[in-house]
Amino acid sequence: MSAQAQKQAAAEAAIAKIQSGSVIGVGSGSTVDCFVDALAASDVEIEAAVPASEATAERLRHHGIEVRDANGAGELAVYVDGADEITRHLQMIKGGGGALTREKVIAAIARRFVCIVDESKWVTALGDFPLPVEVIPMARSYVGRELLKLGGRPELREHFTTDNGNVILDVRSLDCSEPIALERRLNNIAGVVTNGLFAVRPADELLVGTDTGVQRFTA
Ligand code: A5P
Repeated sequence: MSAQAQKQAAAEAAIAKIQSGSVIGVGSGSTVDCFVDALAASDVEIEAAVPASEATAERLRHHGIEVRDANGAGELAVYVDGADEITRHLQMIKGGGGALTREKVIAAIARRFVCIVDESKWVTALGDFPLPVEVIPMARSYVGRELLKLGGRPELREHFTTDNGNVILDVRSLDCSEPIALERRLNNIAGVVTNGLFAVRPADELLVGTDTGVQRFTA
């Protein structure tokens, strides 16, 4: 089964987690695109969605689903999003698409975080995927030097600006063996908006599309 088919299967399994009439959070990326399309094709009619990226907002609107701003949306029933890496502890690296800050905010607002991935994202330890760090542009050099001190090898994501007007440093070689401590430490560097570790607030449920069906894990 292709990775795309696995994403599709995980996305379809997530529809069962959504109640009609609820306001939900929706992340970003190709797996989430499958989820939005599956939601639109399903019998479930949500009241509205809070999207993590402009691209997701556009896709929701295209399907006639109401889009709401996070401010004023209140607590969300559930947040559905993908990941670049996820472990058995449901801790993740996210931000491959650059939407990490909005994703983290919406995950924080939601009662439940359901993560949907294909099998390639299911890892025993975080850190092979370069860790995205969103930085305000004037702090780029300073933050880069601080990341070097921590053993990381930061690289500016070329020709990319986040939906918040910031830049991304993709960092290789960081020791992610204590993800909660690292997430907090990186967020304490002046100029860092957020980083792609989702360990302080992991997912509550994971749906992995595999060749033998969708596997479900809970925290
Ligand atoms: C977006 O910024 C990311 O956090 C995505 O959730 C992640 O990159 C997964 O994307 P795919 O579903 O496209 O693999």
